[in-house]
Amino acid sequence: MKAASYTEYGSADVVRLTDVERPVPTDDEVLIRVCAASVNAYDCHFMHGEPRAMRLATGLRRPKDGRLGVDVAGRVETVGKNVTEFKPGDEVFGVSRGAFAEYACPSASRLALKPLNVSFEQAAATPIAGCTALQALRDKGQIKPGQKVLINGAGGGVGTFAVQIAKLLGAEVTAVTSTKNLELVRSLGADHTVDYTREDFTRAGKRYDAILELGANHSWSDIRRSLTSDGKWLFVGAVATRGWLRPLGTLVKALAQSPFVSQKIQLVPARVTRDDLVVMSEFLEAGKIEPAIEKTYSLADVAQALRHVEQGHAGGKVVITIS
Ligand SMILES: NC(=O)c1ccc[n+]([C@@H]2O[C@H](COP(=O)([O-])OP(=O)(O)OC[C@H]3O[C@@H](n4cnc5c(N)ncnc54)[C@H](OP(=O)(O)O)[C@@H]3O)[C@@H](O)[C@H]2O)c1
Repeated sequence: MKAASYTEYGSADVVRLTDVERPVPTDDEVLIRVCAASVNAYDCHFMHGEPRAMRLATGLRRPKDGRLGVDVAGRVETVGKNVTEFKPGDEVFGVSRGAFAEYACPSASRLALKPLNVSFEQAAATPIAGCTALQALRDKGQIKPGQKVLINGAGGGVGTFAVQIAKLLGAEVTAVTSTKNLELVRSLGADHTVDYTREDFTRAGKRYDAILELGANHSWSDIRRSLTSDGKWLFVGAVATRGWLRPLGTLVKALAQSPFVSQKIQLVPARVTRDDLVVMSEFLEAGKIEPAIEKTYSLADVAQALRHVEQGHAGGKVVITIS
């Protein structure tokens, strides 16, 4: 089968389309024919081997596992002997190593049935970005109707889901993005927008009950100034183009000060679970959430898709159509 792979760390130039053996599912896995996959900032971290500390797990000098891609949607071909929830022919979505390929073997516990009225592309756009936004706002933020939520980095994969989920939770949503994505975030339901190329939201004198952080481009004292006295900083990630040291420095300082200030810092290490995939599938099926797909690429053009996402200015999700 055809699969995207890489044998050294680097930019998207290291990614090749190669012929590899079709994977064989273990007892707890499902073999799926991949119909669509989507690209996440996460894939770029694996491709670059950045932050460097991750190489302790992924391979010090070169990647130990040359597969790429995680978000996936497809049709079940066969199931492992312990799998009772799925059968051949089912349309599913979830996460799997090696999603940028014609076949993949996700664990059954990280899959859910795809609603029939949702395309494979829409389903593949959802797992990481949708579950991250859901867990950040619902679980860590415990957002209540009427609360004011600011999303810094609202125009990207996680941000476009976060705007819609925050609205579903009843929040008044301010979306921070660049000029080109303002209309997109408005169309997803944002009540207010801030164009970060013209205005710094931390200087506007407004306060929020929660700030969902996808940009990490402000100091902790700037963030505190923009939070209510018991506000929450929901830290998901940093813009791809800024390296890791500055955001990490801000975070360490914030965590060190946190016992002495009233505002709370919540780190969001999202995990894609079947329960939350089911929640997302119900939102998708009911039309309450629509993945904002900016571009689709073919499997042969995975490197181009990764190049687009690694620049850190995607407008919504980037999807790979496979079969
Ligand atoms: N903790 C977790 O479990 C978890 C899960 C998923 C993602 N993440 C992390 O979260 C971050 C965002 O992920 P993503 O998938 O949404 O990335 P993405 O799709 O690449 O989107 C990045 C967004 O950042 C925006 N941006 C760039 N510079 C900005 C600035 N100065 N101020 C505000 N926004 C800015 C871009 O908007 P413009 O085009 O308008 O500039 C773009 O829409 C990444 O660091 C990722 O690694 C963490």
